[in-house]
Amino acid sequence: MARSDDGQVVRLEDYRPTDFLIEHVEMRFELFENEALVETVSTLRRREGTDPASPLVLDGDALDFVSASVNGLDIAGDRLDVSPDRLRVALPEATAAQAVQLSVRTRLRPEDNTQLMGLYRTNGVWCTQCEAEGFRRITYFLDRPDVLATYRVRVEADRRAAPVLLSNGNPVEAGALGDDRHFAVWDDPFPKPSYLFALVAGDLDPIEERFRTRSGRDVRLTIYTEKGLSSRAGYAMDALKRSMVWDERRFGLEYDLDVFNIVAVGDFNMGAMENKGLNVFNHKYVLLDPDTATDGDYQGVETVIAHEYFHNWTGNRITCRDWFQLCLKEGLTVYRDQEFTSDERSRAVKRIASVHTLKSHQFPEDQGPLQHPVRPTRYREINNFYTATVYEKGAELVRMIATILGETRFRAGMDLYFARHDGDAATIEDFIRCFEEAGETDLSQFSRWYAQAGTPTLEVRESFADGRLTLDFSQSLAPGSAGTPTAPLVIPIRFGLVDRAGRDIEAVPEAGSAEVEGDVILLTEPRASVVFADLPERPLVSVLRGFSAPVTLLHAQAEADRLALARLDPDPFGRWRALTDLVGERLRDGAKAGGTEAGATDPAIAEALIASVEDGRLEPALRAQMMQLPGEAEIARLIGRDVDPERVHAVREAVLAQIARTGSERLSHVEATLGGDAGFSPDAASAGRRALRNALLLPLSLADGSPERAARRYRDADNMTDRLAALTVLAHVFPDSDLATQAVGSFFQRFEDDALVMDKWFLLLATVPRPDTLERVEALAQHPLFRLSNPNRARALIGGFATGNQRAFNRADGAGYRWVAEQLRRLDPVNPQTAARLATAFRSWRAFEPVRQGHARAALEDLAATPGLSRDLADIVVRSLN
Ligand code: ARG
Ligand code: ZN
Repeated sequence: MARSDDGQVVRLEDYRPTDFLIEHVEMRFELFENEALVETVSTLRRREGTDPASPLVLDGDALDFVSASVNGLDIAGDRLDVSPDRLRVALPEATAAQAVQLSVRTRLRPEDNTQLMGLYRTNGVWCTQCEAEGFRRITYFLDRPDVLATYRVRVEADRRAAPVLLSNGNPVEAGALGDDRHFAVWDDPFPKPSYLFALVAGDLDPIEERFRTRSGRDVRLTIYTEKGLSSRAGYAMDALKRSMVWDERRFGLEYDLDVFNIVAVGDFNMGAMENKGLNVFNHKYVLLDPDTATDGDYQGVETVIAHEYFHNWTGNRITCRDWFQLCLKEGLTVYRDQEFTSDERSRAVKRIASVHTLKSHQFPEDQGPLQHPVRPTRYREINNFYTATVYEKGAELVRMIATILGETRFRAGMDLYFARHDGDAATIEDFIRCFEEAGETDLSQFSRWYAQAGTPTLEVRESFADGRLTLDFSQSLAPGSAGTPTAPLVIPIRFGLVDRAGRDIEAVPEAGSAEVEGDVILLTEPRASVVFADLPERPLVSVLRGFSAPVTLLHAQAEADRLALARLDPDPFGRWRALTDLVGERLRDGAKAGGTEAGATDPAIAEALIASVEDGRLEPALRAQMMQLPGEAEIARLIGRDVDPERVHAVREAVLAQIARTGSERLSHVEATLGGDAGFSPDAASAGRRALRNALLLPLSLADGSPERAARRYRDADNMTDRLAALTVLAHVFPDSDLATQAVGSFFQRFEDDALVMDKWFLLLATVPRPDTLERVEALAQHPLFRLSNPNRARALIGGFATGNQRAFNRADGAGYRWVAEQLRRLDPVNPQTAARLATAFRSWRAFEPVRQGHARAALEDLAATPGLSRDLADIVVRSLN
């Protein structure tokens, strides 16, 4: 049963260290077909200076208690008070000088655990997920990140059901038991919090490689998959080795155990988990081959493998003091994985992709009812704070520190952080202090970014006279943003002044200007100006290069200048930003004006889009990104209120049609000069060419007015990237054509046994941009391959529909909202965490016009009134209504 909402709020200001320290944990797991027995022996002592009479209170969650003893003697009666959710024991014998051993036995039913938190089974494999508070579903414990202990774990199971027995750390012993059972013992010498505990047992196939660290330590790397899938883990292994090399080179960080194990499972609530020495992954982020995975999937695997590996230092060796500090490990680790991808692939392409993610996920969160500071100060359910704000905006804050300090001083701050806090459960203040000391700078004003929710607005005005360029900057926050009062932030603004030949001009700011360091202006006041004198001509002003701060930019810049920057800013990111912002504004204004004819279909815009695709100076991946129109949800966000998704859809279609009409010959020419690739290689350059070729398919098919081209591409495809791109055009643009129906059917038949590909199939059908997709999706929920209890499948159909289908989810009759709410009600008792995550699809409901708003509110209120709703889902629904 899911915990129901008990209304408890956890507050940052209430943080207190524990009265007891747990130094060492010995666990024994006996795994059987229908139950698991767990014995946990904790060596603990009282913290110096605490009340010697205070009892030990351990966390539990729906536990079945068997017995407990202290120093080998059974305890019961008035010393012990135990419920499924708590164990309280009087421990007068424990002092600061004298440790005691507390042994607790629990009985688990992993096969009934559909929440996928704690110990559960997936396709027969025993597997754990403990972050954030899953360890308390295994045993009673001080289940919080500031209690660090070494662990020794013994796992026993039937040899046939589970020939592979894994836990954290290094393997120390293994052997046979009677009755065809066997055991393995694992020892983790690095003190860790319980959320990093892991256990896996099952019949798994390994692939194995060796890695020698730069100081000469040999590490055995193993990736385990379910039987028959290991041939798809090769790219993940390659990405792991590249991550290990990169962390040594870039940050001087080496791996620290004798083995590093990764296990891929099919049922997993999230992407992956960084448990010490034993990462557990969703199949989606390990298993790949060209026939079943897209270039996007390859990139995703590389990113998540790197991310989890990098957590070994930023998360594990240095962990979080409490869950309010989650961004300490997540924001920093996302920053590190973004840097890894930038170094391994293309920096500009990666930056554009990251900014796209930030704008499409974090901005709407930060501008709606689920808004919260990067470091929140209160929560009801911590699992609901693994958000785009903590992860993506958290990474932006680290990036701003790097921008403000410069590379050398930033690296010195990181070095100090690792040297000073290795082995600690740290806070954001600890982290910031390292950069203040190593960078010899004061970051107290900068720290407001961690406390202040909401997307700040940065306004820029420029004027030019007599060779003098004046840039006036001002910053503001939307009123009502949650967090500390809206005091001015520190906003680093990377910029360039560009001449008409597309070259950066050197210019020195006049005295009295705001602080300028190289190509970064530091805005610290509500408003400030910078003046550049002695300019031969009025330059083009390229601001916020690299998206140097997570803000909404309002730059009153002439359209001609913006189009010129889109063509010739020497900074490729600057080109993308100039174009994408201009296109976004046009779509916004067109949708507001309500007509498909009005404003949006400006020939200059279509021309700029086509010209950027033609520009051979840009790498193909970038040209594909330039051509991407803002999605319907993004246009809705730019409109902000009273949104009619039908108008948004229509205006976007109109611009697409115009590009097709006016550009088809030029785009065909681009396609012809690109040529084809012989065979499939997942490298960035090949992927970029595929991305551009596939981006051209839509306008060219629209120009044809026929599905033939996409059907041919579908038939000829020798990899999933091309196949899925073609299928998407068929199913989304020509849904009523026989060719589309045939392709959708043949895709199903070919891949019906492959779960990851079937997720793509469900997602594709859930996102057909038509209001009547709802009826189709209702039918798909009855499909024999639909399984509500598998998070990937639930996300594909329900999540795909609710977040990837603006027209159908936001149907004027409210049926889309009601259907999603109904699915959430069904999913909640099975897997509350996934239900809560899917419910965030409602986060922008207030931006719509009144009729839709009314339907959305009614659906949410109905959900809120459901008896026995989990704390996870109730928290999201209640906050969304506030
Ligand atoms: N720490 C994991 C990662 O980012 C994710 C864990 C998510 N946990 C959760 N309760 N949602 O790598
Ligand atoms: Zn992470």
